[in-house]
Amino acid sequence: MTVHYQIDNEVFANYIEKINPSDPILADIAAYNEHHPKGGMMMDPVQMQLLAWLANLMNTKYYLEIGVFTGYSSTAMGLRLPDDAQLYLCDISVSYTDIARNFWQKAGIDNKIQLYLQPALITLRALLEDGKKDFFDFVLIDADKAPLVDYIENTYPLVRQGGVIAIDNTYQKGKVVGQVKEDDSASLQVIRRFNQDIVKDSRFSSVMLPLGDGLTLLMKK
Ligand SMILES: C[S@@+](CC[C@H](N)C(=O)[O-])C[C@H]1O[C@@H](n2cnc3c(N)ncnc32)[C@H](O)[C@@H]1O
Repeated sequence: MTVHYQIDNEVFANYIEKINPSDPILADIAAYNEHHPKGGMMMDPVQMQLLAWLANLMNTKYYLEIGVFTGYSSTAMGLRLPDDAQLYLCDISVSYTDIARNFWQKAGIDNKIQLYLQPALITLRALLEDGKKDFFDFVLIDADKAPLVDYIENTYPLVRQGGVIAIDNTYQKGKVVGQVKEDDSASLQVIRRFNQDIVKDSRFSSVMLPLGDGLTLLMKK
């Protein structure tokens, strides 16, 4: 397949930031993460511009996120979605999400947020038991990779028809391409299998984009 033009992602991201600077709170979170030992876990700003725009286009009222960290993706969504939107956020780390809470308060979006601090699979099952079937408009999965298929299966009933599930890191820095190796990490094996299976999954219409470390979008048919 011929690619017509190859973009330098860093040059592109800096250009976008220059002509359309991020909200100051998002810039603060990004700057904070630059000095955080795990700061590289933050979603890519260009990915979040697309996801927040898309969620807004879809009139998202109910947003679910698995993997909050210090709050970049949730703040990007919270700032973009309307006042009556509700963000249901899942993480296991008190220390990461305490930092996120601080940014949500500064952004004035904390009133839209419900944080569930326990393994996400427990929260997903509890939400279904709580009657949240076909409820969410938009879901972002950006957490541990080993349970990815369980996350999808447990999210599926919670999402409305036409709703979107976005999954980050599906390119695994290019490692999904090429030979399978014996020492491939469990995450890489899971993502490689996921990428192959999801395109055949008739429950979804899917697209995989070269944004950040690979972004897959699934629309529930
Ligand atoms: C890649 S980071 C999320 C980055 C975030 N979306 C952002 O833009 O900053 C992954 C997060 O998943 C959380 N996590 C890991 N295992 C989890 C689990 N079993 N359930 C819920 N969250 C989990 C981690 O604590 C971490 O905060």
